[in-house]
Amino acid sequence: MSATLAADTRPADGRISQLNAVSSRRVIDPESFEWGSMRPGAVIGRELLSVHDLDLDLSEEELDRLSREQVASMLDAGVRFEAALTAGFALQIAEAPDVTDPRIVYMFHEIGEETRHSRAFVRLIHELAPTARNPFERGPAGWFGHRMMRWAVSQPALLTVLILGGEEIPDLLQRIASEHPDTDPLLAAVNRYHRQEEARHLSFARTVLPELWAEAPPRERRRIRWLAPRIIQVLFDTMVHPGVYRAAGLPGWETWKAVRRSPSRVALRHTATRPILATLLSTGVIDAGRVPRPWQHLCGVDRHGDPRPGDVPVPGLRAS
Ligand SMILES: [Fe+2]
Ligand SMILES: [Fe+2]
Repeated sequence: MSATLAADTRPADGRISQLNAVSSRRVIDPESFEWGSMRPGAVIGRELLSVHDLDLDLSEEELDRLSREQVASMLDAGVRFEAALTAGFALQIAEAPDVTDPRIVYMFHEIGEETRHSRAFVRLIHELAPTARNPFERGPAGWFGHRMMRWAVSQPALLTVLILGGEEIPDLLQRIASEHPDTDPLLAAVNRYHRQEEARHLSFARTVLPELWAEAPPRERRRIRWLAPRIIQVLFDTMVHPGVYRAAGLPGWETWKAVRRSPSRVALRHTATRPILATLLSTGVIDAGRVPRPWQHLCGVDRHGDPRPGDVPVPGLRAS
């Protein structure tokens, strides 16, 4: 965050002050939801299960269990992602030259909103009662992942691109789930609440990215072009971890690898991540015609950023 004295205004100040005003007016406490009302059994439609393409021979009970474990895994990932975001923002606040900068005030709002989201997610996880253990949170994978997280959150421009990833992907998943007739009503209500507040967070990230990009050293810019898409792909692939499949009686790693490659999941990844690239193209972080290969792979686009044909329709996604 660059030095800003209160009197020294920058072009984005007005937009950020508007976001501050909206966040001040709309404070939703997660206690207001009807906790305890989640239904037993399946909580999302069968077509929204990550194993949709795999043609597995599972009983109705196993499919129900899979739906609860899948949703719990994604919520758990959401809590951890929001905590990493909070850590990164906290570092920027602690080191800010001027804590009255509207950007810093907005970070306070966003941290407040994220902690409420996380409390809602934790309550949903309680109601889902998952049993799966996440192998990515333990052993060498956990050690490496946690160190990567600490390294990434201390780089404001890179963190902002990862925030775009961590917010655009759930935005699509929660939109699909909240509009699907088979989604549990409590889960759908939390999804709608979350998307509404995340829309402001996405707006903030898009607004500050050009400033942070202008201030970023060359090595951080290279990381955004070449490494960030790989980290975002890991975020996407690990939201539903191998333990989820094991809990439903399936071979954990084998199923996880098959899901990653399955046409529906690839199409979902492409659709969920294209808005991130669109922001990078519109803010000049990446030039059309020179989209780096890892971004092309993540988003299923060519070097101009245009979608490559061949994706299957995303299950459950209706035209907006
Ligand atoms: Fe959130
Ligand atoms: Fe957020």
